[in-house]
Amino acid sequence: MNSSPQIILLTGTPGVGKTTVAALLHQKGFQILSLNDFIISDGLYFGFDYIRESVIIDEEIVQKKLLNLFSTISGYLIIESHAAEIVPAEFVHHIIILRCAPKILRARLEQFRKYSKAKINENIQAEIMEECLIATQEIFPAEKIIQIDSSSSSPDEIAEKIISIIS
Ligand SMILES: Nc1ncnc2c1ncn2[C@@H]1O[C@H](COP(=O)(O)OP(=O)(O)OP(=O)(O)O)[C@@H](O)[C@H]1O
Ligand SMILES: [Mg+2]
Repeated sequence: MNSSPQIILLTGTPGVGKTTVAALLHQKGFQILSLNDFIISDGLYFGFDYIRESVIIDEEIVQKKLLNLFSTISGYLIIESHAAEIVPAEFVHHIIILRCAPKILRARLEQFRKYSKAKINENIQAEIMEECLIATQEIFPAEKIIQIDSSSSSPDEIAEKIISIIS
């Protein structure tokens, strides 16, 4: 019997609400993996890019470790990550992209993140240019990709929408 998990990717530009929604889904009984935490805690990176203010991920080893993890679990696993394209595509059931109106996203990033002005602008630009959507469309079929606007729904409403998509 195949006991591989069915992966739900929860992705989007920094600040759209991935971690907040993932925490609510965890409270509702779902298995959650924060890819960023996994990468940091297991040291799966080459170093830190001080210009881009982000870790330089060792993608090959991350994929290897994810495959090891997937062989030990079954059922739905929600992976929240800005970098959805790292997750081995054959296990991915749905990709949920949280979107956010640029003005609201800017307010969230200015209030809750210690990013420089340049990094905040880079993220706003990425959201306007739909970088996450384009990156996922290059890998996953359109029918697996669902966008949810996080500017007009509460985290709880978004979590409920995701549950109804999964079930
Ligand atoms: N739907 C929402 N409505 C209003 N505020 C929200 C919503 N979702 C998240 N927030 C707020 O926006 C901020 C950023 O959310 P969160 O940390 O979950 O984003 P993230 O996508 O995980 O960002 P990062 O990629 O930087 O980890 C938090 O302070 C959170 O409370
Ligand atoms: Mg987060």
